[in-house]
Amino acid sequence: MNGTGAVDVAVVGLGFGEDFLPLYAAHPSVGEVGIVDQSRERLTEVGDRHGIAARFTDIAEVLADARWDAVHILAPVAFHSSYALAVLRAGKHCACAVPMASEIADLHAIVAAQRESGKNYMMMETAVYGREYLVAEEMYRKGELGGLTFYRGYHIQNLDGYPEYWRGYPPMKYITHALSPILALTGNTVADVTAYGSSKLTADRVGSYDNPFPLQVGLFRLADSDVVADVTMSFFQTARSYVEGFSVYGDRQSLEWSGAPGEAMRLFELQPAGPAESPKGSRGRHARESVLEPPDYAHRLPEQLARFVRTYTLESHDGGPVTTKTAGHGGSHPYLVHEFISSIVEERPPAIDAVTSAAWTAPGIVAHESALGGGERLAGPSFDG
Ligand SMILES: NC(=O)c1ccc[n+]([C@@H]2O[C@H](COP(=O)([O-])OP(=O)(O)OC[C@H]3O[C@@H](n4cnc5c(N)ncnc54)[C@H](O)[C@@H]3O)[C@@H](O)[C@H]2O)c1
Repeated sequence: MNGTGAVDVAVVGLGFGEDFLPLYAAHPSVGEVGIVDQSRERLTEVGDRHGIAARFTDIAEVLADARWDAVHILAPVAFHSSYALAVLRAGKHCACAVPMASEIADLHAIVAAQRESGKNYMMMETAVYGREYLVAEEMYRKGELGGLTFYRGYHIQNLDGYPEYWRGYPPMKYITHALSPILALTGNTVADVTAYGSSKLTADRVGSYDNPFPLQVGLFRLADSDVVADVTMSFFQTARSYVEGFSVYGDRQSLEWSGAPGEAMRLFELQPAGPAESPKGSRGRHARESVLEPPDYAHRLPEQLARFVRTYTLESHDGGPVTTKTAGHGGSHPYLVHEFISSIVEERPPAIDAVTSAAWTAPGIVAHESALGGGERLAGPSFDG
């Protein structure tokens, strides 16, 4: 931290990472923002657009410089675990895009490195700060959903034409957007997993991973709970527009949200039994259906960040035009930045700390193993203690 107590942050990887630059720049507790990208061209283009002077082509330059308090990793997945370990071991706070890592041993290593460093680690899970999750959480906490009966999560995205490292990627290893809402809602972990692969990757889509499946489906039994979560993940060969959503079913009310851009959340309210309430007389209870428009909850953010939750304008520092942007991932990005920075300033663990991040990532890695084993039931690893 510099003399003013502000946090100096470096953002590594300027694809998705570019979206976070105006948020760090606007945050009242952030001092300087630096950028790292191995592509010099990208570094110049993004640095000029955002008026950022501190530019590096190698994360090692940031790690060697005591000026940087925190690093946010948004480089490709293969770098997540080694960079997180390097950041923590350099004595800096670490935020990282999902997934935390792709192997169980790496999750344990990051949890251990976080403990040893005493610095903060936060996985930047967009799915638990989007407005659709926030409204579900508020309704659950108020008891409006009643007791939870079931959860379904889904992430179907077509990765044909994405960078080469995505070819054949095991969908379950990217489970966090589809699974974390139920784990965040209940505070539970996963007790055990049974998963299957469905269909077969075409020969041209098989990558360097041990994965023959375009789609994987899993059942995740929650620990200390009677609830089972059903999660579907697909990256190839599924004819569906992009969905990244969840449905949560209670014994009083339920929410269904496809997660497709522009598709509304639907609310179901179970009506009392009896002829007066149900079109079918006493057979079955009618569920009244309506569209739910989630609020923004922007009052939870500092005023400098509140404007980034829906549609916002950005001035360009390179003489380009003012652009209008739609906030991605349900407006979650400013919340993630605020939580990460606040946790550092307030010297407390972030909401998605290292143990929580590992507990939300591991079930997908285990599910992939289960699917390779033809649906073998496997225990979810523990990261406590
Ligand atoms: N909702 C979400 O949470 C969400 C959404 C999109 C992407 N992501 C994650 O964010 C990360 C970045 O995604 P992306 O689509 O921008 O990836 P990308 O492959 O497009 O790469 C982003 C940038 O990283 C740079 N880069 C590559 N290797 C680097 C290295 N070793 N050091 C520094 N820079 C490097 C590239 O030049 C590029 O500019 C991924 O891990 C992805 O899984 C998360």
